[in-house]
Amino acid sequence: MKLIETISGFRTEVATVERPLGLVPTMGALHEGHISLVRRARTENSTVAASIFVNPAQFGPSEDLSTYPRDNDRDLSMLEDSGVDLVFAPTAEEIYPDGFDTAIDVGRIAQRLEGEHRPGHFLGVATVVCKLLTIVRPDRAYFGQKDCQQSLVVKRLNADLNLGSEIVVCPIVREPDGLALSSRNSYLNPAERKAATVLSRSLRLAEDLDTTNAGEIRLAMRELIAREPLAAIDYVSVASADTLEEIDRVDRPALVSLAVHIGKTRLIDNVLLYPGD
Ligand code: PAJ
Repeated sequence: MKLIETISGFRTEVATVERPLGLVPTMGALHEGHISLVRRARTENSTVAASIFVNPAQFGPSEDLSTYPRDNDRDLSMLEDSGVDLVFAPTAEEIYPDGFDTAIDVGRIAQRLEGEHRPGHFLGVATVVCKLLTIVRPDRAYFGQKDCQQSLVVKRLNADLNLGSEIVVCPIVREPDGLALSSRNSYLNPAERKAATVLSRSLRLAEDLDTTNAGEIRLAMRELIAREPLAAIDYVSVASADTLEEIDRVDRPALVSLAVHIGKTRLIDNVLLYPGD
C-alpha cells in the first residue's frame, strides 16, 4: 500500500494504475462501516484508493473539528489489512492553500435535514468531494447509507458537474444492539453508549408501526426518544427519499431519519421505508 500526501504525487501515481479504480473517501478514525466500503470497492475494482482527510470546511464553528478522533497509524493498518492499494492523506494546506476561495453549492437536496441544522456543512462536503473526485478521477466512489443525505448530495454534484464517477451507496453497518457505527461513538461514556440505542430503536419502531401516516410515525418516534433522559432531539423526519421533502403519507419510498444529541454528542441514523412494507 502506498501513502501519498500531495495532489501532484497522487495524480502521477494514479495515472498508471490498473482500471477500474474505486475510491473510498473518509475522515479517518476508521471502523467497520468504513471498511465495508473498502471491501465492496475491492470486489468491484482492480485498484482501490482511500482518502483520509478531516475536512475543516464541513465543521461548523461550534462543532467538534478540534476533538474529532484521529489515529493515523491505526487507520493505515486497517486500510492495508483490507486490501487498499493507495491512500491519499493530504494536509489542510494541500487541499485549501492560501487564497482558496471556491465553494460548491448543491441546491435543494442540500438545504433540508442536515443542511438546515448544520449551516454550511454541505458546502464543505460538496467542495471537498468535488476536489477528491477531480484529483483521483475514480471509476467508482463509495459512500455509506449512514449519511444518506450526503450520498444524495454527492450524486447530484457528480451528475450536475459531469464528474464522471459512478456513485455507489453501501448499507449501514451496525453494532449488535443496533447502534450505527460512527467515529463519533467514541465520544460516548458508558451511560451515553446505552442511551444511544434510542436512535435505532426509534427507527425500528417506525418500521414496525402499522400506519402510512407520517405524522403518527414522527410522533411515535419522538415519544420513544423523549423517554430517554440523555437524549435531545435535533430533528425527526419522514421525507420523500428522492427530494427529502417532508411527506404526509408513506405512499412512495420514504427516508425516515433523525439527529439526536446524546449528551454532547450529535448522532444521526436513518432507514428507508417502502409503501406496502
Ligand atoms: P466519514 O464520516 O469518515 O465517513 C466516510 C464514509 O463512511 C461515508 O460515506 C459514510 O457514510 C460511511 N460510513 C460511516 N459510518 C458508516 C456505517 N456505520 N455504515 C456504512 N457506512 C458508513 O462522510 C465523511 O467521512 C465525509 O463527509 C467525507 C465524505 C469523507 C467528505 O469529507
